[in-house]
Amino acid sequence: MAEKNLLKYEELKAQVNFHNYRYHVLDAPVISDLEYDRLLNELKRIEADHPDWVTSDSPTQRAGAKPADRFEKIRHPRAILSLANAFGADDARAWFERVRKLDDRVETARFVVEPKIDGLSVVLHYRDGLFVQGATRGDGEIGEDITSNLRTVRAIPLRIPVQTTDKPSSMVNRPPSYLVVRGEAFIPNKEFEELNRRLEEAGEKTYLNPRNTAAGSLRQLDPQLTASRPLTLLVYQIVYSESGEVPTSQWEILEYLKALGFPVTDVAKRFSDLESAIAYTETWNKGRDKLPYEADGMVIKIDDLNLAADLGFVGKDPRGAIAFKFPAREVTTTLNDIGVAVGRTGVLTPYAVLEPVEIGGVVVERATLHNFDFIAEKDIRVGDRVLVKRAGEVIPYIIGPVVDARSGKERAYKPPSKCPACGQAVEHFEGEVAWYCVNAACPAQLVRNIEHFVSRGAMDIVGLGTKIVEKLIETEKIKDAADIYTLTREDILEAVTKKERKTKAEPPGKNADNLLSAIEASKRRPLNRLIAALGIHGVGEVMAGDLSRAFGNLSALSKASAEELQQIEGLGPNIAESIVDWFAQPANQNVVKKLKAAGVDPKVQLSDVGKQSGKLSGLTFVVTGTLPTLTREGVKELIENNGGKVTDSVSKKTSYLVLGENPGSKADKARALGVKILDESGLRKLINS
Ligand code: IVH
Repeated sequence: MAEKNLLKYEELKAQVNFHNYRYHVLDAPVISDLEYDRLLNELKRIEADHPDWVTSDSPTQRAGAKPADRFEKIRHPRAILSLANAFGADDARAWFERVRKLDDRVETARFVVEPKIDGLSVVLHYRDGLFVQGATRGDGEIGEDITSNLRTVRAIPLRIPVQTTDKPSSMVNRPPSYLVVRGEAFIPNKEFEELNRRLEEAGEKTYLNPRNTAAGSLRQLDPQLTASRPLTLLVYQIVYSESGEVPTSQWEILEYLKALGFPVTDVAKRFSDLESAIAYTETWNKGRDKLPYEADGMVIKIDDLNLAADLGFVGKDPRGAIAFKFPAREVTTTLNDIGVAVGRTGVLTPYAVLEPVEIGGVVVERATLHNFDFIAEKDIRVGDRVLVKRAGEVIPYIIGPVVDARSGKERAYKPPSKCPACGQAVEHFEGEVAWYCVNAACPAQLVRNIEHFVSRGAMDIVGLGTKIVEKLIETEKIKDAADIYTLTREDILEAVTKKERKTKAEPPGKNADNLLSAIEASKRRPLNRLIAALGIHGVGEVMAGDLSRAFGNLSALSKASAEELQQIEGLGPNIAESIVDWFAQPANQNVVKKLKAAGVDPKVQLSDVGKQSGKLSGLTFVVTGTLPTLTREGVKELIENNGGKVTDSVSKKTSYLVLGENPGSKADKARALGVKILDESGLRKLINS
């Protein structure tokens, strides 16, 4: 009886590991998260009854190891080598000539080109198919034992081969009794941005770049922390094997590792001549932003591993491969000054005024300095040589100062104690990094505030662009958001500059009329949108929805105490205080009063609470990429409030894919399956149709 149960347990374990593999390695789950959780819970239940059955390859054993005092040292079974660099095609050709002279087999050699991921090199040990040890590269001879941390990385199989539905070859069925593989652990760009977005929302310090975050996450002592970081990995090398056969070409190694259940790049290609390999490298140089991770180049490897080994090394660099580096996206320049920008919520953001410098074909003069703590922590001084990074669509940012380049003339920086735009004293909220100007009448803030107030996710007033807003603020026609509702046709006509009038095809009067009717229409927006439009620190779309349902109208919300506010699930003391503070400001009280007087006073009917429009009922949505106005939670709420369902993975059953910028593989999958694709406005149209 017990034996039969043990068998069932083993089967269940393999099943959970398989679904983990489908999700984290193939990015193509075949069951829902709910079903997965059910299997995992069943497994946990059995393990609770039979603690003696639990083995290290159980998916329950990924997290939970206790923090370590220090990392033990591990000697690698073979040296963990590095790579020589090639900067451009001619360097790569020169490498080829050098190795061809050493061995004429190189003449007809094939090449495998793989992405060179900018992460952390890790070495994984498997004994009898079980993951038993994992290490950092260290100095190439000796690394650090980070096994407990690596166990939390779900893309790493705990047992190989991973049981799949495919018919495995005999080689895969019987992997070497001892197998040591090497790969690169990293945080994908999207996950990194998401991580930083969450930190920023929580008012916490954000991370600098995916590479440092990945390395830091794997090299810290508490595995629980590692588990909370979105780490993954790709493997590309067999470092060592004992008793068992492994392939002798790089291309077959990749196929073999993949068949064993390891995550392997799908960008690798094999070529029969160097020029084709170089051409492929160049296409990825141009398309590097399409890669879901940071790559600092491509690796060109001689496919025949026996030939590659025979070529030997130069120092720690094997002659059989070369790193074809992409042009740097990080350069150094002089920090001429530090400026301070005032954001919508009054948050003060320091930015670098740089000696203009070209990075990847664009002249960069400004870069973000993140926040004042960052400047202090990195000890960034005006006059310093600084390292600047510009990658993809991301705003250029400062990585840090080049301390060795200091002349002694650099000046330490002191953050402003007053708002640079309005002169009012700045404030700091407990537990947050940012400094704020809390003056609601601050002109710089006002522009950002109005921009936010009229944005699509808020009051959605089309036609009130930044230029007009600036002009209306300058001429004091707008002193706060409520003044939008007292604008006259003349005010608007005056604000449209002469230059703009000439270039506009339509007569300006028509634009003014359109804008006036857009303003009028916005009075009918629901309460949650108005609350979100106010731009209260910490109150996003989801929170605005909760507040609207809980309080029913703006006046009630304005009188709520911090205690009352904290009755709402997920609303903590900081946000409660921020809401109370906002409504306590006389200027803001005035805005609420003026809005009401202008007829902007939406109410939530009690019967509306929890009511669903049902427009999307029966439909299943998957969301990918960054949407123009809605956050992840916001779009989920919108769909669910209208009766739709949101799931994580695309399948034939998916009704629509909601597509934003920089989408993931879900978009490709949706296209492949013929799933209909919508953008944010398409989704809104569907709801309002
Ligand atoms: S091959 C003999 N392939 O780049 C094997 N390295 O100096 C030498 N890297 O720190 C490495 N992606 O961690 C190789 N597909 C790839 C790689 C890769 C990233 C890293 C590796 C090493 C550095 C090369």
